[in-house]
Amino acid sequence: MKDIKKLVDECCELMSSKKEINEVSRVRSRYLDEVTSSLKLMKDLDSAGKKKLGSEVNFAKKAILKHYQDVLESIKNKKTSNLSKMHSKSKFLPAAKVASGKMHPLERVKREAIGIFKTMGFSVVDGSEIESESNNFSLLNIPKDHPARDETDTFWISGDSLLRTHTSSVQSRIMQSNDLPIRVICPGRVYRRENDDSTHASVFHQIEGLLVDEDIKFSDLKGLLAEFCKEFFGEVTVRFRPDYFPFTEPSAEVAIAYKGKKNENWIEIGGCGMVHPNVLQMAGIDPLKWKGLAFGMGVDRLTMLRHDIRDIRLLLEGGSRFIEQF
Ligand code: DAH
Repeated sequence: MKDIKKLVDECCELMSSKKEINEVSRVRSRYLDEVTSSLKLMKDLDSAGKKKLGSEVNFAKKAILKHYQDVLESIKNKKTSNLSKMHSKSKFLPAAKVASGKMHPLERVKREAIGIFKTMGFSVVDGSEIESESNNFSLLNIPKDHPARDETDTFWISGDSLLRTHTSSVQSRIMQSNDLPIRVICPGRVYRRENDDSTHASVFHQIEGLLVDEDIKFSDLKGLLAEFCKEFFGEVTVRFRPDYFPFTEPSAEVAIAYKGKKNENWIEIGGCGMVHPNVLQMAGIDPLKWKGLAFGMGVDRLTMLRHDIRDIRLLLEGGSRFIEQF
């Protein structure tokens, strides 16, 4: 493990040497990860050592972020001053561009995905980020003592209400209140207690899909998601592997072989399955007559794949400097 101070110096030097904002961001993320990973040493230290290491890591992160802001500022200033130099030389050059707002890449990808599902006949519904325990768990066949509740560490608000841990909670709402058949998608934010790192965030985004009709088979589900992947990614191999979710049976994980590299680089983009008969029954739907298929996809994952973004936290920070790159 490198000395933390050395890491900070190295990172600052490297950031200063870069000319493009996305290069600087990449250096920043890499070194922040490296600095954070030195916390692994914590377990072998006594309490004074732990305190020292903790404050060193905090200090290092602050120093990196401060330098990052400075470098971004100076890149921006340099770009503007080059432009104004150019303009002062010739009055025939076109006027300087006025900065305008841009759509966040997450929003753009979400809209694109919604557009694809709409062409397949799905309509968009809205759920609620504050959910009841029953919609988020019990009505999805996740009983009180089920391990699935531990997997998704929940932000509880009070006795029965919580921040939804997945958009699947919308399934419970829709099945209880809608006429059959059902063909809906629900995009939205979800929350889990996570230690944020480059691939995990405590707030992220999903698109849930639910289709309930009389003659629905697993092959419909496979065909539907394969078609979505083809529309979204272009020609790509899609893999379905058995998985477990209490609310679907059978259940599968959906992965794509990204950039056509078969058998390597499989990237999971979501989960899916046939709606469990218990879930239909709890919503008052006769499972002998009606069948359902459901899926949930990570919008952050789709966005990261689309734009080759390596750190999910960049998506959540906001700020025009990040958005301007797209
Ligand atoms: N809710 C699951 C999750 O957050 C994803 C999921 C899996 C949704 C299977 C579904 C499904 O609708 O059928 O991990």
